[in-house]
Amino acid sequence: MKSVGIDGISIWSGKLSLDLANVFAPAVGENPDKYTKGLGLYTCSFPDVREDIVTMGANAAYKLMIAEGLDPSEIGRIDVATESSFDSSKPISTYISGCLEQVFGEEFRNVNKGERKFACIAGTQCIDDAHNWILSGRNEGKSALVIATDTALYERGNPGEATQGAGAVAMLISEDPSIMELSLKQGYSSVDETDFLKPNQQFPSVDGKRSVQVYLSLMRNALMNFEERSGKMNIEEFQFVPFHVPFPGMVRKAASLGYRYMTRGTPIENELEKLIGPKPEREKFSEDEKYTESIREYMKLLEGTEVYKKWYKHVIEPTVQISSKAGNWYTGSVHLARASSLLHAESEGLDLVDKKILVGSYGSGAQAEIHVETIKEGWEEKIKKMDIYSQLDSRRSLSFEEYEQIHDVHNYSKEIDLDELTNYKNEFICTGYGKMGENTYEFV
Ligand code: HMG
Repeated sequence: MKSVGIDGISIWSGKLSLDLANVFAPAVGENPDKYTKGLGLYTCSFPDVREDIVTMGANAAYKLMIAEGLDPSEIGRIDVATESSFDSSKPISTYISGCLEQVFGEEFRNVNKGERKFACIAGTQCIDDAHNWILSGRNEGKSALVIATDTALYERGNPGEATQGAGAVAMLISEDPSIMELSLKQGYSSVDETDFLKPNQQFPSVDGKRSVQVYLSLMRNALMNFEERSGKMNIEEFQFVPFHVPFPGMVRKAASLGYRYMTRGTPIENELEKLIGPKPEREKFSEDEKYTESIREYMKLLEGTEVYKKWYKHVIEPTVQISSKAGNWYTGSVHLARASSLLHAESEGLDLVDKKILVGSYGSGAQAEIHVETIKEGWEEKIKKMDIYSQLDSRRSLSFEEYEQIHDVHNYSKEIDLDELTNYKNEFICTGYGKMGENTYEFV
């Protein structure tokens, strides 16, 4: 069996940032702690005037091609995951390859291109497609570029507004990878849901509270499905557990649920029972509400135990570090979580070769997926090439008034003329529209 997986990662953040505690909270009359302590978010990324899903995706892919010394002839497939597309027919991957051709001077003419849609889980599905393509041998030695790119904007005044974000993650999927090897085992949970959707509209219709419950329920069912198909998991086997991060507070909830699930029937469960008593059982409650309340209290007790806090600090906290500064990037978020944990491990000098991570993806509408990846020799050298923290640090901070204008710039139903707020250099920018109504791009 071929070894297939992630052989390169490059990230591009929107070049503007909104400070949630110091700029957003006072302007909307909220307590800053709601964002920093409650949601776990400090700043979020926004696209400047000439940035969009194509420029961010192309810039991430360009950096990846340069960092890995790739030639277009080595790429056989370009798949883009996005839920922010502006065209129902022409895929964003064609725009991105057109951009790359401007700088590489060579064409991606015999490359299979596509676009995947299933809310935030589409990036993971693109990796699956690339994995299958390589395993089948149809790649003929070539690699796939998977690009997850989104401008995750909500309508002004929507509770989701604080969780916005914008950026792209480009990943190289190859044989004999030097970062992560993918496994064949997966667990799924998928239902016809309406927690978050965009029925031919730019901004989502979202039932925020319900979406949190659907995320948790599907993640648990995907874990169960994974165990049914692959056997009992051992929680101690996983160095990191990166989940989809709409905001870090969501991962806090998913982590305790996952921990409880994965430790059942183990000595850790016996230890926990001595400390906080047994987990409440549904049969012992006459009403749903009382059972839910009792579970909530049990989870709070669990999260307060030393054994859980230690696990959370080492296994979960490193996965949300980028997102706490970048916001929700929809299709890119779970891939930011993986990158975040590896950057943390590299800075700590951890020896991770052959160690495993458990990845939990989620997309509204809705589907959760669980799979395992194995860290490969050479990962540190590849991860060192990522400059996401310096990008995040050099973003231009927005005042609230500027944020309002930038939101309008990216709102298709508004027309507003605004000068760009950053300088563009060595990057793709959007220059306007062509005669067929297509977007036009240029490398500056
Ligand atoms: P909200 O209702 O305004 O916030 O928005 P809240 O009142 O629930 O407060 C948020 C948290 O802050 C709560 O924590 C509060 O207690 C806490 P919790 O109890 O839940 O642990 N809090 C405070 N903490 C400390 N000090 C304070 C304070 N005040 C409050 N002073 C909501 C929250 C999630 C509804 C909103 O952000 C939203 O609608 N977000 C968009 C939807 C979303 O992100 N859903 C997540 C799951 S669905 C998903 O992940 C898919 C998605 O990525 C899309 C896709 O797949 O394409 C969204």
